[in-house]
Amino acid sequence: MSNFSVDELLNTCKGLLPPAKEAGACLQLICDSLKEQVPHYDWVGFYFAVPEQRLLVLGPFSGAPTEHTQIPYGRGICGQSAATERTLVVPDVSAESNYLSCSLQTRAEYVEPIILNGVYVGQIDIDSHTKDPFSDKDAFLLSGVASMVAPLVNQVFSP
Ligand code: SME
Repeated sequence: MSNFSVDELLNTCKGLLPPAKEAGACLQLICDSLKEQVPHYDWVGFYFAVPEQRLLVLGPFSGAPTEHTQIPYGRGICGQSAATERTLVVPDVSAESNYLSCSLQTRAEYVEPIILNGVYVGQIDIDSHTKDPFSDKDAFLLSGVASMVAPLVNQVFSP
């Protein structure tokens, strides 16, 4: 479960930042790296915020295609995180009534807000096929990645 190095992964992600790669390609590579390197990450994606419409729009992701390309604030785990601008960790999605299923295999979900200069701009969403897989390592990793990518969101997406 915890067979990954937070420092190595943060360094990998840092090495993928512009100008090494254009911002959209960088976000895609970060999704791909996280999904590939962390055994319990089965879907990794970015959702971007459209504050005026209180809507999340799917950005780069790695994993199976999802029908949830737009999610209103408040709906599902992602929408609840957007509405509160808080990290949400759901160890067992079957125990959650306000949940939007992307895959029947998903057992757990982690949503990390992306904040740029105090403004909520989107989130990183992780789905896991393993029940209760998340620890402090995921919290360190995902908060680090969120801070790292925050300046890129406006380059990739304008609401
Ligand atoms: N499960 C999420 C929807 C997004 S997918 O996981 C990609 C939710 O409940 O908001």
